Amino acid sequence: MDEIRERLLQLRQAIRHHDHLYYQEASPEITDREYDALYSELKDLERQHPELTTADSPTQRISGTPLSGFVTCLHRIPMLSLDNTYNNADLLRFHESVSRTLRGAPVLYTIEPKIDGVSISVRYENGVFVQALTRGNGKEGDDVSANLKTIASLPLRLMLDNPPAVLEARGEVFMSRLGFARLNEQRQAAGEEPFANARNATAGTLKLLDARLVARRPLEVIFYAQGEIEGLEVNTQQELLQFFRKAGLKTQDWLRTVTDFPGITEALLELRQNKNLFSYDIDGAVIKVDSFVQRQLLGQTARAPSWAKAYKYEPERCETRLKDITVQVGRTGVLTPVAELEAVFLAGSTISRATLHNQDEITRKDIRIGDTVLIEKAGEVIPAVVSVRKEKRPAGSEPFDFVAHLGKRCPSCGGEIIRDPQFVAWRCPNLQCPAQNMRRIEYFAARNALDISSLGSVVAEALLEKGLVQEPLDLFSLTLDQLAALNLGTEDEPRVFGPKNAAKLLAALERTRTMPLASWLQAMGIPEVGSATAYQIGRTHRNLAEVANSAKLRGIVSLMAAQERGLPASAISQAPADSVFGELFSWKKAEAVVSAEDLVFLGLLKPGSRKDGASYYVTTAIGPKTAQAVLDFFAGETGQAWLKKLADLSIDPQGGETAVAAVETASALSGKTFVLTGTLTSMDRESAAAKIRALGGSVAAAVSKNTTYLVAGENTGARKTGKATELGVAVIDEKQFLEMLGEK
Ligand code: IVH
Repeated sequence: MDEIRERLLQLRQAIRHHDHLYYQEASPEITDREYDALYSELKDLERQHPELTTADSPTQRISGTPLSGFVTCLHRIPMLSLDNTYNNADLLRFHESVSRTLRGAPVLYTIEPKIDGVSISVRYENGVFVQALTRGNGKEGDDVSANLKTIASLPLRLMLDNPPAVLEARGEVFMSRLGFARLNEQRQAAGEEPFANARNATAGTLKLLDARLVARRPLEVIFYAQGEIEGLEVNTQQELLQFFRKAGLKTQDWLRTVTDFPGITEALLELRQNKNLFSYDIDGAVIKVDSFVQRQLLGQTARAPSWAKAYKYEPERCETRLKDITVQVGRTGVLTPVAELEAVFLAGSTISRATLHNQDEITRKDIRIGDTVLIEKAGEVIPAVVSVRKEKRPAGSEPFDFVAHLGKRCPSCGGEIIRDPQFVAWRCPNLQCPAQNMRRIEYFAARNALDISSLGSVVAEALLEKGLVQEPLDLFSLTLDQLAALNLGTEDEPRVFGPKNAAKLLAALERTRTMPLASWLQAMGIPEVGSATAYQIGRTHRNLAEVANSAKLRGIVSLMAAQERGLPASAISQAPADSVFGELFSWKKAEAVVSAEDLVFLGLLKPGSRKDGASYYVTTAIGPKTAQAVLDFFAGETGQAWLKKLADLSIDPQGGETAVAAVETASALSGKTFVLTGTLTSMDRESAAAKIRALGGSVAAAVSKNTTYLVAGENTGARKTGKATELGVAVIDEKQFLEMLGEK
């Protein structure tokens, strides 16, 4: 047995070494054949001795079972974004503000290429890969560990003899230009829709639930920043990058250090001139203060650090011909004109459509069908038409009149359209318009709403077309037979949905019944309500009935109106002296809806700072306009209809206390480190680890003095428990563990 262990260790070490040479150094020492021989020997040995397989073994890169969804986890340290600038004047202001704060002390900047990809935070504990999170909203991101593990150049174990206890390496996942081009070729050959650009392809790939598919995509990862670090001292950006390289984490080759403003502009110019020599897309440069002590002094805002700046290249532009203008109908009936373009290649992708926003925009720029137009693409935004080359305009063209073009009728339902007085937009007011129904159903089923992945747009379209559903809640009256027989193809070439998919969809719908209030609020498509608002409302209300008539929302509306008006002097005199909220606390008496204390307690109200120096000022987690929009929605016809139908279906989504309790348990495990050993009967180790992390805890590979609990499943070796006892670490069994998770 010891011989086998020894050989396994050797093989893993050798494979890691050769992976590093191949992927990082681009200087392999052995042939592919020799490498394959090592790999299959390891695989065979592990197959014969599954108990000796370790999580960081090179064979564990591709998980064989798809996930049912991503677990969202907190970032220990928020993942900030960067403030962007497009010009030197802004950059000079940045440099001046840095110098001012540092009182003229010498400052060293690093200049790095800005990779146009998707940011990621990869966590290593004691040198072993444990988790990869997307940026998400900066506070919490999706656990995409299984997908990141498929990236061959990413070490599953750091190449260090004494790895730090914790290292969160942050960087960018991307596809090289070549990798992306090949991927799109393959897709087109297989009759699949090509990706618009490498960044979209990367983002789409990271969202795949099946790591086996991810493994076939050419993802790469490069690191440039840090999150949580424990057991390691780094003082500068240069040291950090050096440490990353030593640990086997890939960094960029191009780096310049400069000490003054001319130095910055020179480096930026050099980078821009060489930007096409990179094997991947870069969309600018990042200028960072090198010293971490100076970074501390410079601080950060909620969004971005004050010690760094992204310098983005101006969006790229090119000319093409406007073949036609079509009109899209959105979820709320807003009609958006779309430019149908002669396909052109621009900044890494092929463009054949661009948004024209609205009639005013078309009139202002005098955009006509047949025109040669200048289009631009700035990073992630949809391509837009900048201007028209009037000198190239064909004779006889006419100004484009949106309404005349449509014959004042909706292109989807044919009903009359109206001009929305509130916006510059034209709208289709028909709530039964098929295009709107379609968008609403897509919205209802979206991942951030009720997450019905088996209800794709093809299925939704077929259901609408056959008249089986008109609006989201009609989905609940579908039968298995109806769904199974649903034809997704054509009359001539039928393709039925089938009983298996039908059952899956019905199960997904059934699951929505117990989904939290926040998800339902999101799914209903209430004007002004995005996922953050849905979350806040869901957290602070028990159910829809309470939301519909919410004292809290009304409280927010009147409190903020009172603040706008300025509160009466009498209110100020009654203010508790030590309260940060000052006079606003007495506002309860005046408005008698809900007290400011209540709102503070619920986390809906926070002290703010006002530029004009007013001593007391509050901000709310849900804005007054949004609060009013929610109240209006439920008072109106659409909201009332939703409430009635949900009641008929006995769907009563729960929020409030349950949600608040969930938030409380969410941090129940924070600061606790678990080690899992033996076999758990109720779940596999991956899910156990994901659950621990979701509740704020962390998972380590081996017992140490930093371990809080050793979870001993069945067949736990005496060695592990022995070590735990020796170190005074609590050993718990599966039942106790489930209790901690709040599962039993
Ligand atoms: S540093 C706290 N360095 O650009 C700041 N970011 O527009 C950490 N990015 O969210 C970011 N290349 O995803 C940094 N060399 C680089 C980068 C880089 C690309 C991305 C990153 C960030 C975004 C901001």
